[in-house]
Amino acid sequence: MANVAVLASGSGSNFQAIAEAFSDPVQNPSGHRVVLLVCDKPGAYCLERATRLGIPSIVVAYGKGGQEVRQTAEREMTGALESFGVDMVVLAGYMRILTPLFVGRWQGKLINIHPALLPKHPGAHGIADSWASEDRELGVTIHWVDEGVDTGQIIVQTAFPRTAGMTLEAAEAKIHVLEHKLYPITVLKLLGGN
Ligand code: GAR
Repeated sequence: MANVAVLASGSGSNFQAIAEAFSDPVQNPSGHRVVLLVCDKPGAYCLERATRLGIPSIVVAYGKGGQEVRQTAEREMTGALESFGVDMVVLAGYMRILTPLFVGRWQGKLINIHPALLPKHPGAHGIADSWASEDRELGVTIHWVDEGVDTGQIIVQTAFPRTAGMTLEAAEAKIHVLEHKLYPITVLKLLGGN
């Protein structure tokens, strides 16, 4: 039985998909647990989802500034993750660049989901960037986190063709549906025992 924390900045729909899969004994017979939501944005909707799901949450305040300030926030996060006995850290729309301090501490236990087919279109605008490209396929990537931006080793990808007449809204909706299926399955698979 492993303990997972999710880090999110916004809506938290992936966090909710993961939490719901974890609470289903058919998908999660080993009883792995989502023990904590960490959010960097006071008032973000993911915090409300955590309350409704009965999962503890914390807001980590990032001050303004560079690496020093980020590392102060990361030390606070690591303290919380350790106090909850976290075995794996799952980034789900966490829109901060993590420093080598945090990445090094959680190396091999830190994964991310990105709404594009990496290595193409890394960064904060994966959907918009892939939509604006000539790519005939769109999709989702789950990868280990390293010190780069969306450069870590790919765990799994899923793609779909961009069809004639497809709108950006339709593509975006499809990407989110894929994410909500693929992320919980992948996290549970990595934890094993299911
Ligand atoms: C998701 O689409 C995720 O792939 C993306 O943010 C969204 C969060 O949605 N992440 C990135 O773009 C990371 N570079 P959610 O808060 O509803 O889960």
